[in-house]
Amino acid sequence: MGLLCKYNNLILVLNFITLLLCCSSSQIIKDSETLTSNSGNFTLGFFTPQNSTNRYVGIWSKTQVFVIWVANRDQPLINDSLGVLTISNDGNLVVLNGQKDVIWSSNVSNVSSKTNSSFTLSDYGSLVLMDSTTGNTIWESFDHPSNALLPSMKFTSNMNLTSWRTPFDPLIGSFSFSIERLKIPEVFVWNKTRPYWRSGPWNGQIFIGIQDMGTRYLNGFHFEKDSTRGTVDLSFRVDDFGLVIYALNSQGQLHENSWSIEKEEWIVTWTNHRSDCDVYGFCGPFGICNSKGSPICSCLEGFEPRNKQEWNQKNWTSGCVRKTVLQCEIAKNQNESKNGNEADGFLKLNTVKVPDFAELSFDEQDECKNQCLMNCSCIAYSYDADIGCMSWNGKLIDIQQFQTGGSDLNVRVPYAELGISDKGHKGTIVIIISVLTGIIIIVIIAAYFICMRASNPVRKKQNRIFQFNKIVKPEGYTNNAIGELSQEKLQELLLYNFEKLATATNNFDLSNKLGQGGFGPVYKGILQDGKEIAVKRLSRSSGQGLEEFMNEVVVISKLQHRNLVRLLGCCIEGDEKMLMYEYMPNRSLDAYVFDPSRNKLLDWEKRFNIIEGIARGLLYLHRDSRLKIIHRDLKASNILLDDELNPKISDFGMARIFKVSEDHANTQRVVGTYGYMAPEYAMQGVFSDKSDVFSFGVLLIEIVCGRRNSSFIESENALTLLGIAWIQWKEGNILSLIEPEIYDDCHQKNILRCIHIGLLCVQESAAERPTMAAVVSMLNSEIMDIPPARQPAFLLMQNMMNTVSSEERIELYSNNGLSITNIHGR
Ligand SMILES: *[C@@H]1O[C@H](CO)[C@@H](O)[C@H](O)[C@H]1NC(C)=O
Ligand SMILES: *[C@@H]1O[C@H](CO)[C@@H](O)[C@H](O)[C@H]1NC(C)=O
Ligand SMILES: *[C@@H]1O[C@H](CO)[C@@H](O)[C@H](O)[C@H]1NC(C)=O
Ligand SMILES: *[C@@H]1O[C@H](CO)[C@@H](O)[C@H](O)[C@H]1NC(C)=O
Ligand SMILES: *[C@@H]1O[C@H](CO)[C@@H](O)[C@H](O)[C@H]1NC(C)=O
Ligand SMILES: *[C@@H]1O[C@H](CO)[C@@H](O)[C@H](O)[C@H]1NC(C)=O
Ligand SMILES: *[C@@H]1O[C@H](CO)[C@@H](O)[C@H](O)[C@H]1NC(C)=O
Ligand SMILES: *[C@@H]1O[C@H](CO)[C@@H](O)[C@H](O)[C@H]1NC(C)=O
Ligand SMILES: *[C@@H]1O[C@H](CO)[C@@H](O)[C@H](O)[C@H]1NC(C)=O
Ligand SMILES: *[C@@H]1O[C@H](CO)[C@@H](O)[C@H](O)[C@H]1NC(C)=O
Ligand SMILES: *[C@@H]1O[C@H](CO)[C@@H](O)[C@H](O)[C@H]1NC(C)=O
Repeated sequence: MGLLCKYNNLILVLNFITLLLCCSSSQIIKDSETLTSNSGNFTLGFFTPQNSTNRYVGIWSKTQVFVIWVANRDQPLINDSLGVLTISNDGNLVVLNGQKDVIWSSNVSNVSSKTNSSFTLSDYGSLVLMDSTTGNTIWESFDHPSNALLPSMKFTSNMNLTSWRTPFDPLIGSFSFSIERLKIPEVFVWNKTRPYWRSGPWNGQIFIGIQDMGTRYLNGFHFEKDSTRGTVDLSFRVDDFGLVIYALNSQGQLHENSWSIEKEEWIVTWTNHRSDCDVYGFCGPFGICNSKGSPICSCLEGFEPRNKQEWNQKNWTSGCVRKTVLQCEIAKNQNESKNGNEADGFLKLNTVKVPDFAELSFDEQDECKNQCLMNCSCIAYSYDADIGCMSWNGKLIDIQQFQTGGSDLNVRVPYAELGISDKGHKGTIVIIISVLTGIIIIVIIAAYFICMRASNPVRKKQNRIFQFNKIVKPEGYTNNAIGELSQEKLQELLLYNFEKLATATNNFDLSNKLGQGGFGPVYKGILQDGKEIAVKRLSRSSGQGLEEFMNEVVVISKLQHRNLVRLLGCCIEGDEKMLMYEYMPNRSLDAYVFDPSRNKLLDWEKRFNIIEGIARGLLYLHRDSRLKIIHRDLKASNILLDDELNPKISDFGMARIFKVSEDHANTQRVVGTYGYMAPEYAMQGVFSDKSDVFSFGVLLIEIVCGRRNSSFIESENALTLLGIAWIQWKEGNILSLIEPEIYDDCHQKNILRCIHIGLLCVQESAAERPTMAAVVSMLNSEIMDIPPARQPAFLLMQNMMNTVSSEERIELYSNNGLSITNIHGR
């Protein structure tokens, strides 16, 4: 989006230049001359590579050594210093040699004429040929890249970068760079037609097969799918990091080059080739490469080298094969007569680069495993919360072991290979297993007695032990969600005891209090291992009973998404109920947006990132998590910010899980927060994903305007923020309402689009509000034609007030941001 804006500015600049040029005679650049961009970062001219006498026309950045584009790659000017770059009679950009022969042409067929064409070098390093009468771009070098990928360049899946033949010869070499696997896009470097390196799938923010593609690159890269053309476009921007250019060198290595202002030179700040493991398929099929290992190649568990002799000589090319045939294969061949054998299972590899040729489906995590297990041709799967379910057929190639990051890959193996990885020690293993079994039985018996005692109310306080059985089936608990929660899942959740949390929070000391959530205070805690956590201690008097508590545990434990806060554990002891979350140093969104001293910290780009993140989180809740979850209490104080100000939705105490077939429900207990509640919910208790959409709309408008929906409570006209926004929008005066800290002409279009989307979300009629999927598409400009918005609900404070009773209203005046519960709908 910043990009779009820059293009707009670019066009303005270009138009201006056009005015200057159209009156002069045709442009020409002679061998000795150069043309430098306004930004001063790029220069166009003739150059000679090292150890050569040939002349080429090209664009370089900062120093002549760093050439990013060459026109006449295969037609150098040999012993000729009389070449020119100019516009030919047919209006094309051409390079002429000393004899005035055309040695290179932009070769566009429908150019207007010589007099109406002009060229310029844009701030971003693109040589642009344009029609001066219309200002249209006829041709530009960004659409015909050489070996470099530049910020703000739109690199599409039908383009490629091509390496130089040698460092001194721009002729097209054997390596190229392109976007592949368009369903889950990734980038490849090819050696002629053979893959040489791959980035691993794109998960929306990073390539998951690049080990250290950390936070620095987050949001730097951007993929855009064009479903009508069936293409994928890649672009990146690095506004905060100065001048950064990716270039493919003649050895096939992709380098990130950064211009060092202090040293005045280009520095390679990243390369895709750090070890042999980065060579595609270095260890062959079913091999795994570990750059820290010795030898660096090994076979996946359950596999052995195809050719032991070659393998021992460190020739890894033929890879590995299965030691034992899969049970499902046997079953298939024997016509399923032999069912007695144990079924295949999966061995999990942690922190790896997943293999090539992933197939994509949108199954939920558990479903992903089952689908794979059911189909004998599926030999591995991996679940990524942002991508979905990836599965593999055929062979597994190009797996790399990372020390950190990466993904978990589950590889199908026969039963015999499960768990027992070292057959040489079978005897010992049997003994260990017997001993372990004994210990486990003793522990279970002991635990049983402890639980029995703990459930005795008199002794409750002394035995602060988590009561597992009670949790699974609390009395009178009706929500099906608990039934769905497997014991395994609950156990995966770390269970903490009371003392541990009391110690971590210094006995819930006031100085550790982070804030007051809907159902009780939240404290910062530090565990013994130094890990920071946030502990929500549910107040006994709070409306959140066991039901909400369990709900929250169940719901969050099932969810995994970048924009949802992560639950680390829980604790139930007697009356105490506590939840442990990851600690968010930047607290919640309301502390920024509504605080005049801190709202400067959120510029428009950050705000947009937050809006988009919340939308993605909600979309995941509504649609992508298989369960349909309605949050019901979305508001600024429930959006936490991590240390990079990425939003995380929290507080699922009121969330409701729907069967996918259900699309709305009715409740006796209207819970939510004043100002964010959709009219049908506040008044009739009917809620659906569209009531979350309403809350999102309110939140969006609040983020853009920097004030609360209910902030005009005392004013005369008693309009809500929504009311004011609507009136200003209709009057074309909406700019006056935008938070002045973020307003910038450059972003005006995006800001207006956001408000438009926000207004669509808060329309009176639930049916007319867009789904979160549509909202995400609109935010990303995938949907260009946004329908006009109709009048929102709750224009007047009075109407909103009428949905709550007068006693509650008093409460609401005093604490604007808090959740309210037990408001009965009429
Ligand atoms: C380029 O020339 C320098 C000396 O002029 C020489 O040392 C170097 O080896 C040459 N490189 C190539 C690739 O020819
Ligand atoms: C270019 O000129 C140099 C000297 O001027 C000469 O030695 C060389 O052979 C010429 N090369 C070609 C390809 O004509
Ligand atoms: C220019 O384009 C025409 C078709 O538009 C094509 O036939 C011709 O080969 C092209 N010439 C060059 C030098 O690319
Ligand atoms: C060039 O532009 C002028 C208007 O400025 C127009 O009248 C003329 O037809 C154009 N020439 C061509 C060949 O398109
Ligand atoms: C040339 O033709 C293409 C389609 O054939 C069109 O998209 C493009 O705008 C035209 N360019 C000019 C300068 O008329
Ligand atoms: C790279 O793109 C050019 C032009 O689009 C094409 O001619 C060439 O075959 C491509 N090379 C590879 C390796 O895809
Ligand atoms: C590229 O492929 C060729 C064979 O096509 C091979 O000889 C060469 O070593 C490869 N280059 C690299 C860097 O692997
Ligand atoms: C030009 O380079 C400087 C660093 O030298 C960088 O900060 C700036 O963003 C660059 N401008 C463009 C348009 O690339
Ligand atoms: C490695 O083994 C393959 C056959 O699997 C063979 O073609 C190749 O030449 C071998 N490479 C080396 C370096 O021995
Ligand atoms: C499986 O068995 C049935 C009869 O029991 C036979 O008709 C069928 O052809 C067999 N299929 C295979 C694949 O052996
Ligand atoms: C198993 O997976 C393969 C490859 O994806 C697919 O072609 C086949 O239809 C699947 N079989 C079943 C029974 O789903």
